[in-house]
Amino acid sequence: MILARGPGTLFRPVYTRTVMGGGGSDGSRLTFDVLAGARDLEREGEELRRLLGERPRSIPSHYFYDGRGSRLFDQITRLPEYYLTRAEAEILEREADHIIARAGAFELMELGSGMSTKTRILLDAMERADHLHRYIPFDVSEPAVRDAAGALARAYPELRIHGVVGEFDRHLAAIPPGERRLVMLIGSTIGNFEREPARQLLRRIAEPMAAGDWFLLGADLVKDPAILEAAYNDSRGVTAEFNLNILSVVNEAFDGDFPTELYRHRAFYDRKRERIEMRLVADRAHRVELAGLGLNLEIAAGEEIRTEISCKYRREVIEELLAGSGFGLADWLTDGEELFGLALARREG
Ligand code: AVJ
Repeated sequence: MILARGPGTLFRPVYTRTVMGGGGSDGSRLTFDVLAGARDLEREGEELRRLLGERPRSIPSHYFYDGRGSRLFDQITRLPEYYLTRAEAEILEREADHIIARAGAFELMELGSGMSTKTRILLDAMERADHLHRYIPFDVSEPAVRDAAGALARAYPELRIHGVVGEFDRHLAAIPPGERRLVMLIGSTIGNFEREPARQLLRRIAEPMAAGDWFLLGADLVKDPAILEAAYNDSRGVTAEFNLNILSVVNEAFDGDFPTELYRHRAFYDRKRERIEMRLVADRAHRVELAGLGLNLEIAAGEEIRTEISCKYRREVIEELLAGSGFGLADWLTDGEELFGLALARREG
């Protein structure tokens, strides 16, 4: 799952379209819309300036995902402690046929598609049902959408793919409409949003959908804090590397000099707010310059920069969020250990 583009794509043009291959109704089988691009740099810079100025300081989580960060996240999903990906895949393996039948889906639209790894479980079910028509991956990382779409086009010769590179807060409305479409937001992507922004995101997703359209939402569940803390403090240190990489991405994007060697990874479970927080702790006082923003920071010894929240959910909260966004919960699916939950919901009229 990749929420944002890295600096490599910050300068790309907006609204370009590339068409490859042949066989779709418009003469192509693989198409892309790139909706995120050059104009964003200024806006992003202003947001980062504001967040680095607040106490505690923070950096938006989408800065994790440059090429290296995406690879590190992919490694995280295979770590023994990171149960989320395996638990969700277990549910999908068991329930894919049911989900596709219930939703009557001929088309799959995935928000925050990243590497589209778990997607294959659903595409296989669509193929079995002879429903495999179109896949629409939406992600803020252009390389992720291109690579994933290319690999899936090779793996599923009948499948039409329309990739969209965009941001959740601005581009959801620009996705072309479709029928018999299952929209999904899986992989605990919703965890990165505080309650109110999560509600807003679900409303934006619901907005262009018609009554009777289906939505699949994947959320990590509240559980023993020891299990949660282990998942974000793995013994191999991959999560620490992933966390520290965010400073390199910010340095690269805004000509900065954050000294990564002065920071330590910290992740803890906030029991009251039921969420993991990841932070970077400065070992000693130092100055940071982000020349691209004309910004100078004085970081104190022991100061912490927040890089991510990962909210953990209870079924009631998911149900309430869905209801508040125009969705009715149709099925609540969990793995055998009740680590992870998948909500299959229907847009209400
Ligand atoms: C991609 C947001 C679902 O919150 O578990 C993994 C990101 N951060 N390890 C999560 C993440 C540290 C992940 N999400």
